[in-house]
Amino acid sequence: MSSGSFVEVPKDLLNEIERLEELFTVDTAKLKQITDHFVNELEKGLSKEGGSIPMNPTWVMSFPTGYETGTFLALDMGGTNLRVCQITLTEQKSEFDIIQSKYRMPEELKTGVAEDLWEYIAECLLQFIQTHHGDVTKLDKIPLGFTFSYPATQNYIDEGILQRWTKGFDIDGVEGQNVVPMFEKALEERGVPIKLTALINDTTGTLIASAYTDTKMKIGCIFGTGCNAAYMEDCGSIPKLAHLNLPPDTPMAINCEWGAFDNEQKVLPRTPYDVAIDNDSPRPGQQAFEKMIAGLYLGEIFRLIMVDLHDNHEVNIFAGQDIGKLRRPYSLDSSFLSAIEDDPFENLSETRELFQNQLGIDPNRSELELIRRAAELIGTRAARLSACGVAAISKKKGYKECHVGADGSVFNKYPHFKKRGAAALREILDWPAKANASDDDPIEILAAEDGSGVGAALIAALTLERVKKGNMHGILHPENFKDTV
Ligand code: GLC
Repeated sequence: MSSGSFVEVPKDLLNEIERLEELFTVDTAKLKQITDHFVNELEKGLSKEGGSIPMNPTWVMSFPTGYETGTFLALDMGGTNLRVCQITLTEQKSEFDIIQSKYRMPEELKTGVAEDLWEYIAECLLQFIQTHHGDVTKLDKIPLGFTFSYPATQNYIDEGILQRWTKGFDIDGVEGQNVVPMFEKALEERGVPIKLTALINDTTGTLIASAYTDTKMKIGCIFGTGCNAAYMEDCGSIPKLAHLNLPPDTPMAINCEWGAFDNEQKVLPRTPYDVAIDNDSPRPGQQAFEKMIAGLYLGEIFRLIMVDLHDNHEVNIFAGQDIGKLRRPYSLDSSFLSAIEDDPFENLSETRELFQNQLGIDPNRSELELIRRAAELIGTRAARLSACGVAAISKKKGYKECHVGADGSVFNKYPHFKKRGAAALREILDWPAKANASDDDPIEILAAEDGSGVGAALIAALTLERVKKGNMHGILHPENFKDTV
């Protein structure tokens, strides 16, 4: 939108727009400062003392060659859906077949009791296997890659000690525990014929799935309900694993859990709205970076701005209207902002309809301008801050040219997210202007392959393969690998 569109906007509303612009704009100098601090924090997370970014070693110890084969189950327990897939990695290089079913993750399970969660998951798996394989009592155990996308300590690939819930989950009795036995108990009780081969993070899955088809892929990112990345480190650069005496040049995928970046509030330009989100979240003080970027929070930031401008500022937007619906926490998800940013009409008629239909509010023309600008500011800040993480890993690893595989609803569906992220990366890394608009950037963030399906299967395959070759590092239950190797 050109600034010319604001001509009609009354002075006091214009002042509010300018206040928001000041709060939410992250200029190049700030992006660079954040990135430099980020590089240090990545290092700190790998050190013996640790830092606020967990930098979890995952025991994924190689990239795929494209020649992996086998049939695997994959379970994805993300933030929004539960997905079960069966993936066959075929003889054909970098090819696979997949069948899958999606199950809704009931909202009440996210803050309920642990047993209910594991029971629900086991039931979904049972249903899937019965549908595709028939009588479960006649089946050998099928190897499974479990995508558990929360920060987990893994002393072994078939273990995951939940560090803390993220993305609004809050289930008692799981933090600090290894989730694998809880999961296996629920499977056993129902006679579900599965053996867990690998517990993985969605980012690691994304990295490996993307590298299966594109060898330039060096980083896997998720910009969805949560926000995080994984990349391949050398064991020699992971001081906190030094006691294991692994060969220094052996690769080890690191799940950064960069959502926790700047929990100690050193560099991120947090607004009062970010502070409010944090205070009212189940885990205040955690996931500072994620709370400014991820899909779970974008709509909520916007909602808080709107309510604040109605209640506390002289402009008193939506004056005289009932904003009861708008007052409900987390009632707007990021697709609401996407729709505002996607409104193609100069008079923002689609945005107006959205407000009328979903919130029972009829914004006037100037308020619509403010709404649109607020959405742009939130979406732009998210994309620009995300680029700092990608730039930091690239700087740390000395990557001048590579591909970054990205997945998640914000990356795939939020308007302009890719373009804004790419522009920020260019600013941070001081790339010269492109000679031709169609030229590739040195570091490109591209749509990833399916990490929690194909990625999980690949990691299961890579793990079986390395066990076969005698690399038993980070394997807790070798017996689970026996009949398959
Ligand atoms: C949260 C989780 C992390 C996951 C990300 C994206 O940040 O802690 O494990 O990768 O969301 O789903």
